[in-house]
Amino acid sequence: MNKTVLITGCRSGFGKLAALECARRGNTVYAGLRDLSTADPLIAEAGDLPVIPVQLDVTSAADREQVVARILAERGRIDALVNNAGVALGGYVEQVDEDEVRRVFEVNVIAVWALTKAVLPAMRQQRAGSVVMVGSVSGRLALPGLGIYAASKHALEGMSEALRHEVAPFGVLVTLVEPGPYKTDILGRNRTLSRNAGAEGSPYAAYTAKAEQLFDTIAESGAGDPQDVANKIADLAQASSAGLRHPMGGSARVRILMKDHGPFALLEWAIGKATRPA
Ligand SMILES: NC(=O)c1ccc[n+]([C@@H]2O[C@H](COP(=O)([O-])OP(=O)(O)OC[C@H]3O[C@@H](n4cnc5c(N)ncnc54)[C@H](OP(=O)(O)O)[C@@H]3O)[C@@H](O)[C@H]2O)c1
Repeated sequence: MNKTVLITGCRSGFGKLAALECARRGNTVYAGLRDLSTADPLIAEAGDLPVIPVQLDVTSAADREQVVARILAERGRIDALVNNAGVALGGYVEQVDEDEVRRVFEVNVIAVWALTKAVLPAMRQQRAGSVVMVGSVSGRLALPGLGIYAASKHALEGMSEALRHEVAPFGVLVTLVEPGPYKTDILGRNRTLSRNAGAEGSPYAAYTAKAEQLFDTIAESGAGDPQDVANKIADLAQASSAGLRHPMGGSARVRILMKDHGPFALLEWAIGKATRPA
């Protein structure tokens, strides 16, 4: 069935792959890009597929308004919104600066709320719609060195859980994908470390170095194929019923299982052992 799907953060990673996957399945995809001038690789890969790149810095109210208005003018409806755009931030909580914390929350939480708010009137009127949130295993279990990112993804979990109840009576489905590590640009080009992390004389320098080492290992050998997540996003974008949470990848499932069912002290011990310098 040809649905109209809006996906944020389509320059790379899950967003780009999900845009292509949704289009291959016969849907028309509006692919949001923080900077439209980066659209060429997506356009080249999409070929004849119905993928329409659109300027959408999710933190820009003007971009959000224009995109939603354009889709409704051109298609008359929005069947699915995939809130995928996100930023990560490495660094110990004490060392992160306020502007860095605000940026993470601006993209990962506030922009998700604002864009969802902008599409919901159309979805309620249609009495159908699917909102797919791209969360993270970090929304369920927080690792040292990723506290601010984990805080933003925990916030997204709470908002999604409530929103699901709120919009269900109007026929709108809210789901949450919770990936563990996957090989996308968030582990490369977009991997970001707080500006103060590892500063000379820092009490956390050795811990940060150890955490970075661990993330290097995960990025090189422990990260999954992002197409699996893109396929799940495409499934959920088209779904009319599905559970709320969709953990993705073996390590995410194990971590969530241990958090939900194991002794928490044992989990803390294991995380401490893996992340503290000898
Ligand atoms: N890969 C993983 O291991 C993993 C695990 C768990 C959760 N996630 C989540 O998956 C989502 C997608 O990340 P990814 O792994 O695919 O990484 P990615 O390749 O770095 O993609 C992130 C995308 O978000 C875009 N973006 C950042 N700020 C934006 C803004 N203000 N407005 C619009 N777009 C913006 C980026 O565009 P630019 O590059 O142009 O800035 C990029 O296209 C994120 O929410 C992330 O937290 C990823």
